[in-house]
Amino acid sequence: MEEMDASAPHGGELVNLVADDERTGLLKDIARKLTDITLTDRQMCDLELLATGALSPLRGFMVQSEYASVLDRMRLQNGLLWPLPVCLDVNGLAARGLEAGQSVALRDAEGFLLAVMHIEDIFMAEKEKEAEMVYGTRDPSHPGVDHLMNACGDTYIGGRIEVVHLPPHFDFQQLRRSPAEIRQTSKKLGWERLIGFHTRNPIHRPQFEMTLKAMRKAAANLLILPTVGITMPGDFDHYTRIRCYREIERRYPPDAHLLNLLPLANRMAGPREALLHAIIAKNYGCTHFIVGQNHGSPDRGPNGRPFYPGEAAREIAETCEEDLGVRILGFPEMLYLPFEDEYRFADQVPEGTQTLSFSGFDIRTRIRTGRKIPPWASFPEVIATLRKSYPPPRKQGLTVFFTGLSGAGKSTLAKILYARFLELGDRPVTLLDGDIVRQNLSRELNFSKEHRDINVRRIGFVASEITKNRGIAICAPIAPYTTTRTEIRKLIEGYGGFAEVHVATPIEECEKRDRKGMYAKARAGLIKGFTGVDDPYEAPEAPEIRIDTTHMTPNEAVKDILLFLNEKGYI
Ligand code: PPS
Repeated sequence: MEEMDASAPHGGELVNLVADDERTGLLKDIARKLTDITLTDRQMCDLELLATGALSPLRGFMVQSEYASVLDRMRLQNGLLWPLPVCLDVNGLAARGLEAGQSVALRDAEGFLLAVMHIEDIFMAEKEKEAEMVYGTRDPSHPGVDHLMNACGDTYIGGRIEVVHLPPHFDFQQLRRSPAEIRQTSKKLGWERLIGFHTRNPIHRPQFEMTLKAMRKAAANLLILPTVGITMPGDFDHYTRIRCYREIERRYPPDAHLLNLLPLANRMAGPREALLHAIIAKNYGCTHFIVGQNHGSPDRGPNGRPFYPGEAAREIAETCEEDLGVRILGFPEMLYLPFEDEYRFADQVPEGTQTLSFSGFDIRTRIRTGRKIPPWASFPEVIATLRKSYPPPRKQGLTVFFTGLSGAGKSTLAKILYARFLELGDRPVTLLDGDIVRQNLSRELNFSKEHRDINVRRIGFVASEITKNRGIAICAPIAPYTTTRTEIRKLIEGYGGFAEVHVATPIEECEKRDRKGMYAKARAGLIKGFTGVDDPYEAPEAPEIRIDTTHMTPNEAVKDILLFLNEKGYI
């Protein structure tokens, strides 16, 4: 391939959709009379990348013909390579009031005006096809497919946007430079070759070695572009990751790299994702782009198998190098050779040599479970930074979430467990028993499905805050619905430990006990919609602990729970 024009953004021109002062004033006036669309966090990421030209040459959200062209041909209608749809989704209800030719105000969740969009097209998302073409699977365990199928609205609206304000950020502001600013800095420094390195993980030893090798190979400087928009559930939060990058910056040769945050919502589309990352890096002024093993892919696919072959992203990026207009530095996995005490690319390791490797997933799991990370895998300063944010289970926050029928014994077990934790005294403890919550947080709620969900979500939110701040929350509502419990689990697991305890005492036993006399009333028709009588209880399929209190004392039951928590390292 001929030497590439280092200064050319994708499509030839760096887009800037931020309106000038005069136009901004006008747009603010116009926006007052426009229909509002409130953007999700994910959509705000897309908007920001569009606004600053990171997605050049796009000038707005895709219209149907562009969407179809990207899905079918992986190209924009003008023939330029483009791997992923960038669409603005709304639900059917919101779409009903909209029509092509109209403008709408795009706002953040607080109502702050971000942009005005001129709608050119309103069309149905082809979700099945999009899943197949973009992700190569319809499997909902793929996070991108899950989002598309279960969270994304059914209707896309396409059209040009004029940006009034970039989404506001208050963290790491000096590291949030636009493509134009990075290009300017790089030019000022006289850098002719710049390698883009995109990542959603901290830089451990193999990634560090890989970026150094890339810098040597291409005689180039390095632009580290960590995703700080949306990554995968279970990833380290971006505050911690940025602290980690800052820790290792001094290990790079002096004045040879830049660190800049990328407000991208990752799709985790593997090969197609890698192409998008390469285009974004190109728009930031990169002449080269690193594509490693499993680039842009979810950690695990169905049955623990990956969704894409490890080398798929590298292969497609290398094949599309000409179209991308950026040199691809495609690298196989880096392996550690203990005898030589060095890292080598997998294809340079002599057969029969002993090798070791840890994936980002392995390191995240080890950090979260408090297990050791050997010095060959990462740097002590990175590990220390991670451990500070993600202490071992014993020092993490924890939620013990009891669920079960009325009278199953939840409150009794919760109270005993509460007392045990107070005896231990190593973390603050809060008891969120069903009755306490109903009195203090949810007094206005009844027992309809809708209100039960609100009630249980409130409990989940409070518990998540407690867990985030490293306390222990003990919750004991009936929480009869699986989806709501799953939602809460996801939320809390992002902050610390979560143990679901299904108090599985059968209804016959609960009814026999009937301490509050409510089953009798429910059977007599005096209480309607009573759980287990004429309202459903969906038993958890895989709780951490299942306890039937019929033939066991409460103390015995709590001992089982404590043994489990001890085994998992929480106490
Ligand atoms: S839920 O479904 O999680 O919101 O329920 P929760 O907040 O835990 O409240 C359950 C307690 O409220 C009493 N109660 C009822 N339970 C079930 N269904 C109906 N219709 C109902 N009406 C009142 C009941 O005594 C529950 O107390 P516990 O502590 O579970 O025995």
